[in-house]
Amino acid sequence: MLLLSLLAPASADENGARAFARCRACHSLDRAERGLPGPNLSGLIGRTVAGDAEFDYSPVLRKARDEGLRWDTKRLDAFLADPAAMFPGLWMSIRGIEDAAERQALVKFLEGSSSR
Ligand code: HEC
Repeated sequence: MLLLSLLAPASADENGARAFARCRACHSLDRAERGLPGPNLSGLIGRTVAGDAEFDYSPVLRKARDEGLRWDTKRLDAFLADPAAMFPGLWMSIRGIEDAAERQALVKFLEGSSSR
């Protein structure tokens, strides 16, 4: 296994893009893409929680926004590990990502999209 992964190293960005594939049904990183079931995630890192002005968020995320919470890499990592634990009542029903390396790659990928 180790040898295999040495022979075919996948960059963190590729891993992040792969991890994002299952978010893609509900989220876009293209600012112009609208009408998906989830909020637009372009420029997520540094943005306030519930920061897509055109999306109708749940009360728990609106409350977090009103409290001034922002997305940084640490908060996003903890959120992805267990979304509903951070925001009980969240309207996003996916299970958390247990694999820390996969979460990190995904956070990096989303962070990269913030500077695009
Ligand atoms: C089945 C649809 C669906 C999938 C799949 C999904 N989400 Fe979501 N996501 C949502 C919805 C709906 C919300 C808004 C939740 C609310 O208002 O409580 C949301 C909210 C979020 C937020 C907060 C956005 C903000 O503006 O503050 C982040 C970050 C997020 N999702 C990341 C992800 C990531 C990363 C994945 C993939 C691992 C993912 N989501 C998969 C539907 C989804």
